[in-house]
Amino acid sequence: MKWWLFPFLLFLAVWAMELDPDSFDSVCEVAQNVVQGQINYYEGLSYGGTVGEFVAPYYWWHAGEVFGGWVDYWHFCKPDNETFEKILSDAMLHQAGSKWDYMPSNQSMTEGNDDQGIWGLALLQAAERNFTDHEDHSWLSLAQSIYNQMVSRWDDSTCNGGLRWQIFTWNSGYNYKNSISNGCFFHIAARLYRYTDDERYLEQAEKIWDWMWGVGFMKYKQESGDFIIYDGADDQTNCTDLTVHRWSYIYGVFLGGCAYLYNSTGDDVWKERVDEILVATEDYFYNNSILTEKTCAPWGMCNTDQRFFLALLTRNMGLTATLIPSMHDHIRDDMLKKSAVAAAQSCSGGSDGVTCGQNWNYNGWDGKYGLGEQTNALETILTMITTEHVPYTADTGGLSKSVPDAGNHSTTSVNNNVFDVETKDRAGAAVLTAVVLGLTLSGGVWMLF
Ligand SMILES: *[C@@H]1O[C@H](CO)[C@@H](O)[C@H](O)[C@H]1NC(C)=O
Ligand SMILES: *[C@@H]1O[C@H](CO)[C@@H](O)[C@H](O)[C@H]1NC(C)=O
Ligand SMILES: *[C@@H]1O[C@H](CO)[C@@H](O)[C@H](O)[C@H]1NC(C)=O
Ligand SMILES: *[C@@H]1O[C@H](CO)[C@@H](O)[C@H](O)[C@H]1NC(C)=O
Ligand SMILES: *[C@@H]1O[C@H](CO)[C@@H](O)[C@H](O)[C@H]1NC(C)=O
Ligand SMILES: *[C@@H]1O[C@H](CO)[C@@H](O)[C@H](O)[C@H]1NC(C)=O
Ligand SMILES: *[C@@H]1O[C@H](CO)[C@@H](O)[C@H](O)[C@H]1NC(C)=O
Repeated sequence: MKWWLFPFLLFLAVWAMELDPDSFDSVCEVAQNVVQGQINYYEGLSYGGTVGEFVAPYYWWHAGEVFGGWVDYWHFCKPDNETFEKILSDAMLHQAGSKWDYMPSNQSMTEGNDDQGIWGLALLQAAERNFTDHEDHSWLSLAQSIYNQMVSRWDDSTCNGGLRWQIFTWNSGYNYKNSISNGCFFHIAARLYRYTDDERYLEQAEKIWDWMWGVGFMKYKQESGDFIIYDGADDQTNCTDLTVHRWSYIYGVFLGGCAYLYNSTGDDVWKERVDEILVATEDYFYNNSILTEKTCAPWGMCNTDQRFFLALLTRNMGLTATLIPSMHDHIRDDMLKKSAVAAAQSCSGGSDGVTCGQNWNYNGWDGKYGLGEQTNALETILTMITTEHVPYTADTGGLSKSVPDAGNHSTTSVNNNVFDVETKDRAGAAVLTAVVLGLTLSGGVWMLF
């Protein structure tokens, strides 16, 4: 590149991140840059990299979270050819593993119920946004498989029930029961109920909700009357010793789950629960009306995982706004808009000019960077579109096929071939991505002059 182009590109990058939250085109334009910043961490397009994974230190669940956001980006912003669709579809299917159960053997040293659950949210996003299905394994059926696996892992031996954090006995955390694992299970059940209308999912969601209160993971704090969702507790003390930290993604998955249940049942009790979680979110996760991961961010103490949490809160706020029309304006205009604009203006850093920061109150890029920062920004920015579009169900255009007993007979699915990506497709995809990026920049320069 000619050296004298740099100042123009730098200027361009800053300019490009100015978000007009009410303009569809502006949201997609900014989103495209933020997605490019995510792709810079993606392994699946480079030689020897694993399809569906991101470079270290990013774990398997981070990928599941990113892909859930990419489904929305694909659906609404329609990146203008099939390259992106293929990259995303390959990634999500490859990580299903050889039994199509999202228990890929490479992850058995670390995979917990929450990790699998967050992949489940991406699969539901795919079903509800009409993302092109695999001919034998619909997105919906893959989510149903995760659901059925979770049903079979429900553990009554301690704490009166619930899912454990870890799936495998050899992983530390097996003795911990936690809100995010059970929250993902609740959320998946709620969405499956709305999509399929099958009462079993509703009954399961109610059971999980009641368990959360019974075990004390949800409660009103005595002094203040605040509604709180705790992180979890050790089951060796029968879950009596609560870990008190509050994390935004836990509020997010429960918020969304309640909204799906209100939308599909019309039962006011779920709307009251949505209200309560929203108020608790407003009270805790904001600074100057802008979202922040309050438990760690003010002290610069968020670890790699915690830097991804806000995305799942804002994705769920977006869904809630469309599922409960009476709450739409408050969620979109009072709770999300300022953060979306602030997140966008933070995405002007790094050597690629599309790196997003962590503190959106900061004027410009705060010097923090990572796949988590990109992901939080992307999903928050996309809510300016997602709040306007209700997710499909089987009755309103969703085509993803239901397989209620998916995952229940894993011995029969062992014979299925591992989904494999041909090397030539991968090489082709890498070239196309480079071309797409090239076009973005030159297109921008063209507009500049
Ligand atoms: C995607 O767009 C690029 C750049 O315009 C083009 O070279 C490529 O052929 C397109 N691919 C498809 C599948 O349309
Ligand atoms: C498991 O790891 C191997 C070696 O890194 C890789 O080739 C393969 O694609 C991985 N499988 C999945 C499902 O990630
Ligand atoms: C464990 O806690 C549950 C409530 O979470 C309670 O119902 C049960 O009786 C307790 N079990 C023991 C052995 O204390
Ligand atoms: C469910 O969502 C749709 C789309 O926003 C809305 O028309 C419908 O009224 C909602 N149902 C309830 C019970 O709020
Ligand atoms: C709120 O944001 C301001 C401005 O960035 C910052 O100085 C302050 O530490 C933040 N406070 C909390 C609690 O996050
Ligand atoms: C879903 O996608 C298919 C193509 O895969 C298309 O034919 C159909 O019209 C889409 N449905 C909706 C509701 O957009
Ligand atoms: C699948 O398995 C779960 C857990 O074992 C069970 O509760 C459920 O009824 C089964 N579903 C079907 C459709 O067979």
